[in-house]
Amino acid sequence: MKCSNVLVVLATFVITSAAWAQTSKVIGSKHDINSQGCKGCHASHDGASATGGSNAASGKILLWDRDFSTQTFGVYDSPSMQNKAAEIGGATPLQNTDARMNSLLCMSCHDGVTTPNLTANTGPTGSVSVGNPANSFGLQNDHPVNMSHDPTKNAQLTPVATVTGGGLTLYGSANTVQCSSCHTTHDPTNGSFLRKANTNSALCTTCHL
Ligand code: HEC
Ligand code: HEC
Ligand code: HEC
Ligand code: HEC
Repeated sequence: MKCSNVLVVLATFVITSAAWAQTSKVIGSKHDINSQGCKGCHASHDGASATGGSNAASGKILLWDRDFSTQTFGVYDSPSMQNKAAEIGGATPLQNTDARMNSLLCMSCHDGVTTPNLTANTGPTGSVSVGNPANSFGLQNDHPVNMSHDPTKNAQLTPVATVTGGGLTLYGSANTVQCSSCHTTHDPTNGSFLRKANTNSALCTTCHL
């Protein structure tokens, strides 16, 4: 092959790989777990039983390929909380219409129980996972999830339209905050899989005055 032909082939390869990377930013990110790509979270068929789990029904929810934990995580609460958070875990089977889906799916890995070796922060006594009930108070010491974003109950909250217009997502008819309100599993562009960069606390102030 002539040198110029090799260059054309190379250039075509570079262009097509760039276009491919653009359409699935999850590839090559920390969520491209063991380079499994989409399969790390979604199974084309048979839910969790496709990947050695026991619950084929998990596939009814976004083709999820993992068993759902029945762990309870507790909730953050304080006297100044006006929109109270509700438990996301427990034995009640998850439905694909539940707003809490957008938090509980994360906990199929980030609970520190089902995937004990998945840790995110390093504390003084070793690593902790966001939702680990054993070493990190479950979700009691995390930004609350599974509560309404309702400015009529708390005047320090921005209007719902400011939140959704500002690039964040609220779930269900009650406009609840879930993990995926702030995070987007598929896209690492803003760091920490955030929906928007938190420069000058821009993420926080999309919701809090
Ligand atoms: C680390 C886990 C993970 C990986 C890997 C992953 N997803 Fe997802 N996916 C999710 C979660 C969680 C949701 C639910 C939306 C949310 O809460 O962020 C979702 C939602 C979806 C949806 C439905 C809603 C939407 O956002 O369009 C589609 C389609 C989808 N994923 C396709 C893919 C494809 C294709 C890949 C591979 C290129 C992929 N996912 C890789 C976790 C993952
Ligand atoms: C299939 C398992 C799995 C699921 C489901 C999953 N994650 Fe992850 N997540 C991981 C792994 C593995 C890492 C990398 C941990 C590391 O490198 O220390 C990670 C890392 C992260 C990080 C840190 C990224 C960084 O740049 O440091 C964030 C934030 C995160 N996940 C949020 C979420 C959220 C929010 C959800 C649900 C919408 C979710 N994850 C669902 C497995 C998962
Ligand atoms: C109100 C917004 C918000 C919500 C809701 C939220 N996060 Fe985060 N999360 C953040 C921000 C901001 C960071 C980056 C923190 C930093 O850089 O110090 C982060 C960081 C993380 C990390 C990286 C490691 C760490 O511990 O800092 C993980 C993992 C994570 N979030 C998972 C979750 C899960 C799982 C949920 C739902 C239970 C969730 N997040 C809900 C805003 C949020
Ligand atoms: C998607 C919207 C949203 C985002 C983004 C968000 N919050 Fe919140 N946050 C809420 C809601 C809703 C509450 C519940 C407040 C209430 O009703 O009293 C809350 C509660 C809190 C509380 C507990 C208040 C109390 O009375 O105990 C703190 C502290 C807090 N948020 C800080 C932050 C910080 C810091 C950030 C940025 C990393 C952030 N929030 C991002 C919606 C959000």
